[in-house]
Amino acid sequence: MALSTSSAITLNINGEKHTLPVDHRTTLLDALREHLDLTGTKKGCDHGQCGACTVLLDGRRAVACLQLAVAAEGRVITTIEGVAEGERLHPVQQAFLDLDGYQCGYCTPGQICSAIAVIEEHAAGWPSAVSADVRPEAGVPPLTAEEIRERMCGNLCRCGAYVSIVQAVAQAAQAGAATAPPGPRQGGGPSAAAGTGEADGAGNAGDAEVTV
Ligand code: FES
Ligand code: FES
Repeated sequence: MALSTSSAITLNINGEKHTLPVDHRTTLLDALREHLDLTGTKKGCDHGQCGACTVLLDGRRAVACLQLAVAAEGRVITTIEGVAEGERLHPVQQAFLDLDGYQCGYCTPGQICSAIAVIEEHAAGWPSAVSADVRPEAGVPPLTAEEIRERMCGNLCRCGAYVSIVQAVAQAAQAGAATAPPGPRQGGGPSAAAGTGEADGAGNAGDAEVTV
């Protein structure tokens, strides 16, 4: 008996349930763009190398090109289309606009999704590879430009808008962009997760110190 190579799945995206048939090999990125017309999430390398396809899965950043759509069933998926509240932009979106954190804009949805998670990871006390003291008792490290660059290093910008991107992330953090309740710091770290596309997303920017 031949095994089925497709299934009907239900994805929870930006607060809405979408039921769709997919080939089991379909990535979450292709399901978003080709099946659901959610084209805000961009395809750059399609190999987990550029961060253009970054979305939030249960509040943690993930590169959608390395996620199978069938494996995303039951997860809370947030794409760039879902980060604003109605007409009110997310503080990270507003900061990118205010500070020209983009040129062509192709990498921008991924940069913004990643930055949202970075701010929450930082507020939760997660250290990065450049944090001077990684002991839990050291508390939240200052969110310096160096920290922002390290934590955002999984998102490439071919236009080279990095200077403004760093400023925008800092401004959004200062504006209190993190929304999730404070969560415990766990093993690993956001910098290490940047390359794989997954990092923890709990935190409260109100506790964060920002230095740029
Ligand atoms: S498209 Fe480049 S990381 Fe997914
Ligand atoms: S703004 Fe053009 S690739 Fe980043």
